[in-house]
Amino acid sequence: MKILLTGGRGQVGWELARTLSTLGEVTALDSREMNLADPDAIRRVIGEIRPHVIVHPAANTAVDKAESEPDLARAVNATALGILAEEAEKLGALLVHYSTDYIFDGSGETPWLEDDATGPLNVYGATKLEGENAIRERCRRHLIFRTSWVYGLRGANFLLTMRRLMRERPELKIVADQIGAPTWCRSLAEATAQVLAQVGSPARGADKPEPWGVYHMTNGGETSWHGFAQAILEFDKPETSARLLPIPSSDYPTPAKRPLNSRLDNEKLERVFGIRLPDWRDALKLCMHP
Ligand SMILES: NC(=O)c1ccc[n+]([C@@H]2O[C@H](COP(=O)([O-])OP(=O)(O)OC[C@H]3O[C@@H](n4cnc5c(N)ncnc54)[C@H](OP(=O)(O)O)[C@@H]3O)[C@@H](O)[C@H]2O)c1
Repeated sequence: MKILLTGGRGQVGWELARTLSTLGEVTALDSREMNLADPDAIRRVIGEIRPHVIVHPAANTAVDKAESEPDLARAVNATALGILAEEAEKLGALLVHYSTDYIFDGSGETPWLEDDATGPLNVYGATKLEGENAIRERCRRHLIFRTSWVYGLRGANFLLTMRRLMRERPELKIVADQIGAPTWCRSLAEATAQVLAQVGSPARGADKPEPWGVYHMTNGGETSWHGFAQAILEFDKPETSARLLPIPSSDYPTPAKRPLNSRLDNEKLERVFGIRLPDWRDALKLCMHP
C-alpha cells in the first residue's frame, strides 16, 4: 500500500510517519515538497506518487493569525482539500483528513455528535468546515477525524507552553470555562493506523456497511484548560511550581473567539471500529513520562 502523508513535520504528521510505516510504504511530505497553497503542486505530486491512501494532517493551524490572514487559511484548509479530494477520487484512493471541534459554536454542555449542526466562531473553524464539505462533495472514500486540543513533545502546543511558563513565572492565569479533551498526537496516530488496518483488512467482510464519513476522535474524558494545566503541573513536579488561577474566557481576549463547549462524543468511532482512545490524563502522563 502506497501512503502519501502530508504535514510530516507537524505534531500529528510526525507520529503518523512512524505508526503508518507498519502498513505500507509511506511518503511523508512537508510544505517545501508540496505547498498546499499551490494547486498545481498538489496535482503534480499526487500524479507522481499515485498513492492508494492520502493521510492529511497538514493544515494552517495558526488560529489567531487566521483572523488577519483569512486567504492563506482558506487556501490551505479549504481550497487544497477540494483538489486533494478530486485527485483521490480520480485514483480511487482513500482520503483521511483531520478536522476540529472549532467547527461547532460551543453552545450547550453535552458532547457534540458527528451530525450536529455546525457554526464556527472563527476563520480557522470556518475554513476547516469548508475543507470537510469539499471532501464530502468530491471524494466518496473518505474518513474525517475531528479532534481537539492536540499536544505532544514537539511543535507548538499548550503542554510545551505551560511547561516553559511554569518555570518562568510564579503565577499563571488560565481559562477555566472552555471544556474539551486534550488529545495526545500519538493517540491520534495510533488510532488512525488501527482504523486503516481494519479498512484494508479482508476480515472486515463485505457484509459490513462502508465506513466512509466523519468520526470524532479525542482522548477520553473532559477538562478545562485550567484543569489541563493543573495536570501538567502535577506530572511535571518537582521541576515545575506555579500557582494556577482560573479565569473566564472574557478575561483572556484573543483575536479568534473560541467555543466554550468543545466536548466531542467518540461513541461512533467505538461502535464502528471498536476503538477507544485512552483517558486524557493517562495519555498526558505517558507523554510526559515516556
Ligand atoms: N493542534 C490542535 O490543537 C488541533 C485541534 C483540532 C484539530 N487539529 C487538526 O489536526 C491536524 C493536525 O494538527 P497538528 O497540531 O499536528 O498541526 P501542526 O503541528 O500545526 O502541523 C501542521 C502541518 O501543516 C503543514 N502546513 C502548513 N501550511 C502548509 C502549506 N501551505 N503546505 C503544506 N503543508 C503545510 C506544516 O508543514 P511545515 O512544517 O512543513 O510548515 C505542518 O507540518 C490539523 O488538520 C488540525 O487542523 C489540530
